[in-house]
Amino acid sequence: MRSGFLSLRVRAEGGRLNPGGYVRVVSDSTWSLRVAGPDDGAFLSDMLVEAVNWSPEQNLSRDQILAAPELVHYVAGWPRRGDLGVVAEAGGLPVGAAWLRFFPADDPGYGFVSADVPELSIGVAAPWRGRGIGRALLRAVANRARSAGIGQMSLSVERRNYAHGLYLAEGYKIVDSGGAHSDTMIKKL
Ligand SMILES: CC(C)(COP(=O)(O)OP(=O)(O)OC[C@H]1O[C@@H](n2cnc3c(N)ncnc32)[C@H](O)[C@@H]1OP(=O)(O)O)[C@@H](O)C(=O)NCCC(=O)NCCS
Repeated sequence: MRSGFLSLRVRAEGGRLNPGGYVRVVSDSTWSLRVAGPDDGAFLSDMLVEAVNWSPEQNLSRDQILAAPELVHYVAGWPRRGDLGVVAEAGGLPVGAAWLRFFPADDPGYGFVSADVPELSIGVAAPWRGRGIGRALLRAVANRARSAGIGQMSLSVERRNYAHGLYLAEGYKIVDSGGAHSDTMIKKL
């Protein structure tokens, strides 16, 4: 059975690593959204690290995550054909991102439902959470997907993650609750 991000049993040995240093400035300046571009791969990897390590009980290093085939495929080769995403910036630096990627049936993501339904990944750098950025990213990536002619998007989320409630509030519906700790959701666009 496939499991959600938190169910990985590997543990980081040296604590969380963020060699990209994506949070170099922390301030109360306003933030804005932009389309994710070809140069955002490293930052999306940073946000993948945030998504995998969403719980304090999970502390995989960036290197561990990028070496795990079932995790790195969310960002590998960004941008691939069909990828789309949005990035939140504050003070000229990226602080959050949401992106979609199509997976084939023989290399599914945790939230895979079909090869023609892209899967969502999202992360906001910890100091910037709770300011509305995550909800804005979700809405922006949904709007971009709709404009691109995509009919639905999926995701996998641990039930204990408060993002679970955020997704439900944003119109996602649970389509598979068979995971031990996680649900698969779909949002129709
Ligand atoms: C999930 C995540 C992207 C949300 O981003 P965010 O910028 O913190 O979200 P927002 O500020 O837009 O908050 C959206 C809603 O989440 C809930 N929320 C926000 N912070 C919360 C907290 N600390 N505790 C509980 N609920 C919270 C609230 O319902 C909030 O809605 P409200 O502002 O109307 O009250 C972000 O917390 C994150 O990166 N978490 C780690 C990575 C992760 O879990 N990714 C998803 C994996 S499936």
